[in-house]
Amino acid sequence: MAQRDQTQQETAAPPTLGIGMVGYAFMGAAHSQGWRTAGHVFDLPMRPALAAVCGRDRAAVEAAAGRHGWAAAETDWRALIARDDVHLVDICTPGDSHAEIAVAALEAGKHVLCEKPLANTVAEAEAMAAAARRAAARGRSAFVGFNYRRVPALAHARRLIGDGRLGALRHVRAVYLQDWLTDPASPLTWRLDKDRAGSGALGDLGAHVVDLAQYLAGEPLVAVSALTETFVRERPRPAGPSGGLGGGAAAGGTGPVTVDDAAAFTGRLASGALASFEVTRMAAGRKNALRLEINGERGSLAFDLERLNELSFHDHTEPAATAGFRRVLVTEPEHPYLEAWWPPGHTLGYEHTFVHQARDVVCAIAGGTPDVPTFADGLQVQRVLAAVEESAAKNSVLTPVTL
Ligand SMILES: NC(=O)c1ccc[n+]([C@@H]2O[C@H](COP(=O)([O-])OP(=O)(O)OC[C@H]3O[C@@H](n4cnc5c(N)ncnc54)[C@H](O)[C@@H]3O)[C@@H](O)[C@H]2O)c1
Repeated sequence: MAQRDQTQQETAAPPTLGIGMVGYAFMGAAHSQGWRTAGHVFDLPMRPALAAVCGRDRAAVEAAAGRHGWAAAETDWRALIARDDVHLVDICTPGDSHAEIAVAALEAGKHVLCEKPLANTVAEAEAMAAAARRAAARGRSAFVGFNYRRVPALAHARRLIGDGRLGALRHVRAVYLQDWLTDPASPLTWRLDKDRAGSGALGDLGAHVVDLAQYLAGEPLVAVSALTETFVRERPRPAGPSGGLGGGAAAGGTGPVTVDDAAAFTGRLASGALASFEVTRMAAGRKNALRLEINGERGSLAFDLERLNELSFHDHTEPAATAGFRRVLVTEPEHPYLEAWWPPGHTLGYEHTFVHQARDVVCAIAGGTPDVPTFADGLQVQRVLAAVEESAAKNSVLTPVTL
């Protein structure tokens, strides 16, 4: 009898975590890949099931369901939330719908993963964080998709800093540079509309580097001084429904750009360390250059997303004659997430951050303790972004980040 119980335990399938995803374009494709793959790579306590995907156009969402492996398609996110086979709602839509979908999903008893930036305004983010606190009392979790924390080299950087390898931090330097808006003829998609996106490069790229800077340093920004600029103030309206990075072809006529093209800001971390940030979608030639350098009294770390398997590390306690930045290839089994992947030197890429995100979310829901960013983290980043905008509007006056 005891032997039969043991056999049953060994063969019992892990419980299912049904995923319902809203939006199926850029992030929808990336998240689909993450949910599809995580259980095949990692030994998970729950099995993610791609239950249903939601869009607004029946034919298009059914095609997306087939392409990305979803069992069903819905055309109204409320219907998606109401499904019994959906336990987690994954929000991959523009920012103007995050708050409404997330709060409704949490109130319906679902877990939520929401893309960054958490919301378009601090007020929306506060409402979401309040809903998350109420849901937590009922055993439901709410996460925000800061996927770059899941780059193994950056997770490793976090460990090194946590272990004191850099000592007291002095500087955090972060840039996130893209160039897809350099051409003034690039069309006016939702990302250039404040009502839909909240802000421009600031919310799109700045949210990532602000989160990373605070996550790696292990402390919040307490004040910022900022400049923002919109270099191209009118752009051609796209012909079709505005969507992905490229939008549609120009259909004649222009409309106003109502968000920033770029933001540059400095800040002070709680410990007194200084931080600087530059984010833009107009850095000609830079495609997805998220670069960080952190200097402490015992050493430094540097990272570039375009070489994401590498971390540069300088140990300042070594003899000066041989010390210097060295390239650590972050593909060893002792590096974060790597044990489950390929032999050393067989590198990972952008998409793997979403597999790691899916893994961490599943483990957190199942009661593990992976360090997954919550709605409270998303709200705090939103407050930093708001302080940046406030400072920029007041000629860069040093502006405290609301606690
Ligand atoms: N983590 C990252 O690295 C990263 C990268 C890009 C975008 N994002 C974030 O992801 C979110 C989505 O961006 P994206 O690049 O995927 O945009 P996208 O334009 O490629 O896709 C948006 C999707 O949302 C759908 N949609 C919009 N409103 C909807 C509604 N009311 N109901 C159902 N579907 C709706 C659209 O049809 C489309 O499928 C944004 O918050 C963005 O900031 C994160």
